[in-house]
Formats: sequence, C-alpha cells, structure tokens
Amino acid sequence: MAPPASINMSVHSADRPLDNYQFTFESYLDDSAQIEPDQAYLFPNDNPENDRVDEQYEIIKMIMDGRLHLAPFSDDRPPRRVLDIATGTGIWAIEMGDKYPEAEIIGTDLSPIQPGFVPPNVRFFIEDSRDDWDYPAKFDFIHTRVTLGCWSDMKNEIIQRSFDHLQPGGWLECQEIPAPVMCDDGTLPEDFGWLRWVRDFRAGGQVANRQVDLGPQLTGWMHEVGFVDIHEMTFKIPINGWPKEMRLKHIGMMWQRNLLEGLSGFSLGMFNQLGKTVEEIETSVLSDTGFRGAHHR
Ligand SMILES: C[S@@+](CC[C@H](N)C(=O)[O-])C[C@H]1O[C@@H](n2cnc3c(N)ncnc32)[C@H](O)[C@@H]1O
Repeated sequence: MAPPASINMSVHSADRPLDNYQFTFESYLDDSAQIEPDQAYLFPNDNPENDRVDEQYEIIKMIMDGRLHLAPFSDDRPPRRVLDIATGTGIWAIEMGDKYPEAEIIGTDLSPIQPGFVPPNVRFFIEDSRDDWDYPAKFDFIHTRVTLGCWSDMKNEIIQRSFDHLQPGGWLECQEIPAPVMCDDGTLPEDFGWLRWVRDFRAGGQVANRQVDLGPQLTGWMHEVGFVDIHEMTFKIPINGWPKEMRLKHIGMMWQRNLLEGLSGFSLGMFNQLGKTVEEIETSVLSDTGFRGAHHR
C-alpha cells in the first residue's frame, strides 16, 4: 500500500526581519520565551509564510510533472473519501476537490488558514492530528506533504492511525523531504554552511521533541505498521540555478528563492529551543548557509 514520495531538497538565508513573523500557537519572539516540549507547531503561519508554502507546493508539483499524487487513482478510478493531514492553506485538498468532483475531501490543520470559498466537496476542520481521530467513516486515500517538524512520533501518530482509518485497499501517500542538502558526486564539504544549519535544526528538533527527517524513514515505518505494496520514489530538487537543463534550472532558482524566504521562519522556532536569542539567530545562524554558490560546477 502507498507510494511514499521522498523528495530530496535543500535550503538558504533570508532577508525578512524576524520580528515580522506571527505564530498562532506559540509566541517566542520575546527572547525570554521558551517553547515547552510537545507544544504545537514550531514554524510561522502568517500570510507571507502561507504564500511561501503555496509556492513550495507549486514547485513540488512541477518536479512531479504536475501530478497531485502518485497513488493509483485517476479520472477512471477516482478516490471516494480523501483525508489531507496538516493541510496548511488547503491548496492540495482544493485541487483534489476540483480534479475529483465526486470525491469527498477533508483537510485538517491546527491553524485556520484555509480559504472560505472552496469546491463544494471540500471541507476543512481545525484539529491536532496527534489527538485521537474521530471520523465517522474510513478513507480510501490519506495524504501528507511537507510535515517535518509537526510530529514527535510520525509512525504512531500518523502512519499507524492512517492504517487504522483506511479501507482495505486504501492508500497512504506521504510526500516528505529530508532536512539536509545532498550531493551526487560527494563534493559537499562537511563544513558546508547548510549542513551546519541542519545540525542545529536537528538539535532543536530533539529538544522540542519534533522529528525533522521524515522522508528517509517512511518506508520502514509503513512496513512496521502493516502496509503492503509500498513504493518509495525520490525526486531531486536543485538547490539553485546550477543545472544546465532549463526546466531544472528554473525549478532550482525558484527553490532557492523559496527557501531563502522561509529560512528565518524555520530557524526562529528551532534555534530558540537551543537557547539562542532572536538577535543571535539573526546575526550568526542566518549569516552563511553557503547556498547561492553551492554546486556551481
Ligand atoms: C509546512 S505546512 C504544510 C502544509 C501543506 N501540507 C502543504 O504541503 O502545503 C505544515 C502544516 O502543518 C500544520 N500542523 C502542524 N502540526 C500539526 C498537528 N499536530 N496537527 C495538525 N496540523 C499540524 C501546521 O499548522 C501547518 O499548516
């Protein structure tokens, strides 16, 4: 059951002042504030971040050649009941609603950031997916995308529950990304700025009790809870405009800009866990991820 698409990607440095961010579930812009382990979401959910996440969605769709999913549904074999966990702005759920008008699509999120005008077959609910799931009927398709930092135990909080809430023959599709940037030819130095950033990001995730490297673990977790017919597909996203091929060059340039825009927001919640002040995060952590020039060969 279920093709987990593990999407390889990478990141950058940002220009947006940190005190412009809004966090609905946490307030740690005050330097003295600390997030308690096991509290809700560590990243911003204000309009600029939501726009960034929507653009990230479009880039991932481009790398998947415009496909919304890899599970074997189609116009001839549409899904009937679909759940999108941690739906964000609901962009995937809305596009699924348009594509499959006969399907019932439910999107859930901690945060009420979904639009009011949506296709009639799409509904959103505000809930913490780590709590018990209370749905009246089973689904035939459950989906997650880019939920790193959301769960302390994705296997039991999400994958096991998905297994329990799928009809026989149903599909779970997790489109998740690993935290570090990767390199095919082994030329990435150990002290590359982004790898240093990832080490701190992981350390922050451990303090906050949040998993940040979901992609590489999905297949094992799915096996362990009992899924069968598991497909793992890896997509490479260039971290900047280095590819010669124009389509990938374009995607890489968009990915670089998107990650640079998000970097302050991702850093603030995680690095605050490590006792760094907002000022320290601004001046040191974000100063050199070494991104722009990476792999310009
Ligand atoms: C990076 S966004 C991804 C949104 C969407 N899946 C996408 O690909 O555009 C992560 C979302 O997870 C939500 N989230 C975090 N923890 C959650 C939880 N425990 N339960 C439900 N939603 C959660 C956040 O509010 C945020 O909207």
